[in-house]
Amino acid sequence: MRILSGIQPSGTLHLGNYFGMMRPAIELQEKGEAIYFIADYHSMTSLFDAKERRKNTLDVALDFLACGLDPKKTIFFRQSDVPEVTELAWLLSSIFPKARLELSHSYKDKVAKGIAPNHGLFAYPVLMAADILIYDSNVVPVGRDQKQHVEMTRDMAMKFNEIYGETFIIPEEQIREEVAVVPGTDGQKMSKSYGNTIEIFGEEKATRKKIMGIVMDSRTPAEPKPDADKNLAIQLLKLVAAPDVAKDFESRLRAGGMGYGDLKKALFENYWNYFADARQKRAELAANLDFVNQVLANGAAKAHTLAQTVLKRARKASGLE
Ligand code: TRP
Repeated sequence: MRILSGIQPSGTLHLGNYFGMMRPAIELQEKGEAIYFIADYHSMTSLFDAKERRKNTLDVALDFLACGLDPKKTIFFRQSDVPEVTELAWLLSSIFPKARLELSHSYKDKVAKGIAPNHGLFAYPVLMAADILIYDSNVVPVGRDQKQHVEMTRDMAMKFNEIYGETFIIPEEQIREEVAVVPGTDGQKMSKSYGNTIEIFGEEKATRKKIMGIVMDSRTPAEPKPDADKNLAIQLLKLVAAPDVAKDFESRLRAGGMGYGDLKKALFENYWNYFADARQKRAELAANLDFVNQVLANGAAKAHTLAQTVLKRARKASGLE
């Protein structure tokens, strides 16, 4: 089974990204042949700062490697290191109705958010389809917001196969159910656009401050809190602490007598320990960028071989060769 996914290089990753996407992706590398890439071409549709793109791309690579992505098991690379994908995008572009792209939720959402609708943004699903099809992928693990993109990919593959003969494998999406709701510091879903994130590898002092600033209510410490399970710090503690530790804090909060300050301190300590090994690994990697670049280059070389085979098939089928 070949598992493929792309990761947007959108800057420092936070706990929502970690529990929602990274950890599941890293676990999947045991289940099949995983191919993960950093979607730097896709970032061009809405990020216009070269330095920032370079930095974000490196940050994502460091974050994933530090958190346990194993380049011996997984093909890990930068999307733009396999430029064949843009050629395949053209082949797909030419058989896919413009009217279908106009129905794209993610395009409409992005435009509604104020992103200028350039042609790349409109064609985003076609490049994504090329990403998926060029590696003969079987399974595409994505968040719910990407479901429609994979459906369009399937339709592009089927249409191409119909017109030019069997060329592409028809992939299936694997929707990640929200295993854990990760609340942000204000109680909304943790998201960069809400400014309520806790970074995975945040600087110590700043992160402590963020955690101590998590919004709580004004009940006194002595008061029992029958709704302790809804407390933001408890919810976060459940993600980063041993189950018995989190349970203990929850029952103490429920019983009354524990202040929110002590609870948040415990949350910080547990968060800090949870990522201690990964933090050290990340520092080592950041001090050894030659190694990181070599990992990405090796990944790109492997991806390139796979991509060339499929592109050749598509070129032959469609009469380019
Ligand atoms: N569009 C995806 C996202 O925003 C990223 C992505 C690009 C992707 N190409 C892909 C995901 C191919 C899965 C497969 O998260």
